[in-house]
Amino acid sequence: MRPAGREAEQIAQLAWVLFIGAAILWLLVMALFVYITKQNPRPLSRRWAEALIIGGGGIFPVIVLGILLVWTLPLMPAQRMPGDGLTIRVTGKQWWWKVEYLDANGDEANTVVSANEIRLPKGRRTEIVLAADRVIHSFWIPALAGKTDMIPGQTTRMALEPTKTGTFRGVCAEFCGESHALMAFDAVVLEEPAFKAWLAAEREPADAPRTAAERRGAEVFLTQGCGACHAVRGTPAQAQIGPDLTHFGSRLTLGAGSFDNRSAERQSWVAHAAAMKPGARMPAYASLSDEDLAALDRYLEGLK
Ligand code: CUA
Repeated sequence: MRPAGREAEQIAQLAWVLFIGAAILWLLVMALFVYITKQNPRPLSRRWAEALIIGGGGIFPVIVLGILLVWTLPLMPAQRMPGDGLTIRVTGKQWWWKVEYLDANGDEANTVVSANEIRLPKGRRTEIVLAADRVIHSFWIPALAGKTDMIPGQTTRMALEPTKTGTFRGVCAEFCGESHALMAFDAVVLEEPAFKAWLAAEREPADAPRTAAERRGAEVFLTQGCGACHAVRGTPAQAQIGPDLTHFGSRLTLGAGSFDNRSAERQSWVAHAAAMKPGARMPAYASLSDEDLAALDRYLEGLK
C-alpha cells in the first residue's frame, strides 16, 4: 500500500530500512554458515576469529542499534505532534465510530456530529482525539499513519497529515468483540476548499423530504421509533445511542465500513441488521411491509 500521509511515509521508510538491513545481515550470516559447513574449511586465523566475535557480536550491533535509536526517537514525538487547527473526536463504539468535528473555539454546541466516515483536508495536520465506550478499540488508517489505541475512560491523541487526496480504508485494530472484523470506516481526503464546503454542509440539518416516498419514509422512521437511537438533525429524532444519520445518504458505506450504502443493503440492514453484523444492537424490523421498507430506504438515501 502506498503511503498517503506524512506519518505513513516515515513508517514505510523505516520498514524498508529494517527490511533491507535484515536482508543484508541474513545474506552475510548465510555466507558464513555455508563457509564453515563446507568439507574441510580452511580454519580462520585467530585474528579473524576474534574480529568476527568481538566486531560482529558486539561492536557492529551496538553501532547499528545506536543509529536506529538516534534516528527513530525523534520520529515518535513527530507522530504525536498537535494538529494545526482542526480537531476531530472519534469514539469507538461496539461496533461503529462516532465522529465529531470540534469547533475551533471549543464551543461544544458547534460540534458537527457524524459517524463511520471521516473527512480530512489534504496538507494540514488534523488532530484526532480518541475515546472509547465500554471496551478497548484501536484506530488505524494504514495509508495515513500508525494505529492508536482507544481506551475507555482515557483520551488518546494522534495527528494525521494526508499528502494525497482519495478514499482510504480505516479499521479497528484491537479485538473488541464479535463484530470486531466488521468495524471499519472510510477516510476521505479532500482538497482544503472542498473539505471546508463539505464541513459547512455537514453542519446543516437534514433536508426536508422531497418526494411522497421520502415523506412516507420519514413518517415510518419516527413511528417505528428509529429516533429512539438515531438522530436526524432538523427532525424530532435526536437520540445519540446509534450512529447520527443526518447526512447518512452521502456516506459511502453502511454498518461501519462493512457494506456498500446501496438500496438492497440498506433494506436488508433495516430488516435484520444483526444477521449481517453479529451482535449489532440495531433491532430487526422484519415486520415492516415491503412498501414501508422501500419508503424508509428512499428517505435514508435522501439524507444527503
Ligand atoms: Cu473495535 Cu475491534
